[in-house]
Amino acid sequence: MSCFCCGSAPRIVEETEIIVKEPVVMAAPIKVAVTGAAGQIAYSLLYQIASGAVFGPNQPVYLHLLDIAPMMGVLNGVVMELADCALPLLAGVLPTANPEEAFKDVAAAFLVGSMPRKEGMERKDLLSANVRIFKEQGQALDKVARKDVKILVVGNPANTNALICSKYAPSIPRENFTAMTRLDHNRAQAQLADKLGVPVRDVKNVIIWGNHSSTQFPDASNALVNVGGINKPVPAAVNDDEYLKTTFVTTVQKRGAAVIAARKMSSALSAAKAASDHMRDWFLGTGDRWVSMGVISDGSYGTPRDVVFSFPVTVTNGKWKIVEGLTISDFAREMLDITGKELAEEKRDALEVCKD
Ligand SMILES: NC(=O)c1ccc[n+]([C@@H]2O[C@H](COP(=O)([O-])OP(=O)(O)OC[C@H]3O[C@@H](n4cnc5c(N)ncnc54)[C@H](O)[C@@H]3O)[C@@H](O)[C@H]2O)c1
Repeated sequence: MSCFCCGSAPRIVEETEIIVKEPVVMAAPIKVAVTGAAGQIAYSLLYQIASGAVFGPNQPVYLHLLDIAPMMGVLNGVVMELADCALPLLAGVLPTANPEEAFKDVAAAFLVGSMPRKEGMERKDLLSANVRIFKEQGQALDKVARKDVKILVVGNPANTNALICSKYAPSIPRENFTAMTRLDHNRAQAQLADKLGVPVRDVKNVIIWGNHSSTQFPDASNALVNVGGINKPVPAAVNDDEYLKTTFVTTVQKRGAAVIAARKMSSALSAAKAASDHMRDWFLGTGDRWVSMGVISDGSYGTPRDVVFSFPVTVTNGKWKIVEGLTISDFAREMLDITGKELAEEKRDALEVCKD
């Protein structure tokens, strides 16, 4: 039968439209190492990695879990729990006490494991114990990891541990070694959001400069807050310079201690979330946001060269780049110099320890 008005053949109308979905293409699994895998931070971090929150929903992961020999029993419990999570992206788990086994062919490494500070231990003793661990792990990474492996050091003193690790892994580019200041960054963002009474997502471009220690400089001077769809400078919105130079800075610097005082344990949940954020942004990019990362210093902003210093960075195609051209006030200069001096001293002490 032809159409009444134009005489053309009638259109056949389907009663139900079939929507053909593109099949989900899974990437080949990548190997990801986590050290200190029987510890507190790893307990939160492993789920985030294995559930797709770090490398994306189509990227299966093979987890290589490193801890020390006396912790293998505990680690076995963690392995059981990972199996019991029945995570579709978890391609396999390798628990081990051998760094060379743990780092074999890994594309990413979260170096969380380190010796905790014991009572009466001086900062120098802690540094000495930990840089030895990172010297050994640098050597192992150098031998067996992929040459494009992205390494995030969480274990303290994180910046100097990352520097030492890179020194003992000369075949891996130095820019592949980073230290975590993202927890401090997230804390700073949350403090400003709270002060301004806005959701945390509406604040961006805070900066943590320097060391992940009490000399770090949380800087709000370039931060922006979204008010009604328009980005406004945070200093103008807060309108309280004294707060931004004092209470804001000290609250972020001392937040770790405040959590320990309240919880009687360190901030493992938020540290794990920060480690996920850091690695996700490094792999998948930051867009137009800045994030804080401890990276090898090229002397930008008058900082000491060849220390791992936290800067504002953007990430594109897996490569970080320090944000350039920011104005440094006299106050900021003083703060950057203090934390830079501490890092230069830590580096000197660490290199001394590594000699033997
Ligand atoms: N950069 C940051 O922002 C940040 C934040 C929070 C905590 N941290 C640091 O992260 C580290 C881990 O914290 P945690 O709460 O998970 O501690 P934790 O004591 O619960 O766990 C540490 C784990 O590391 C293991 N370990 C020790 N030496 C090791 C080695 N040579 N190789 C492999 N594993 C080893 C221990 O056996 C333990 O299982 C600490 O150094 C802590 O100070 C850093």
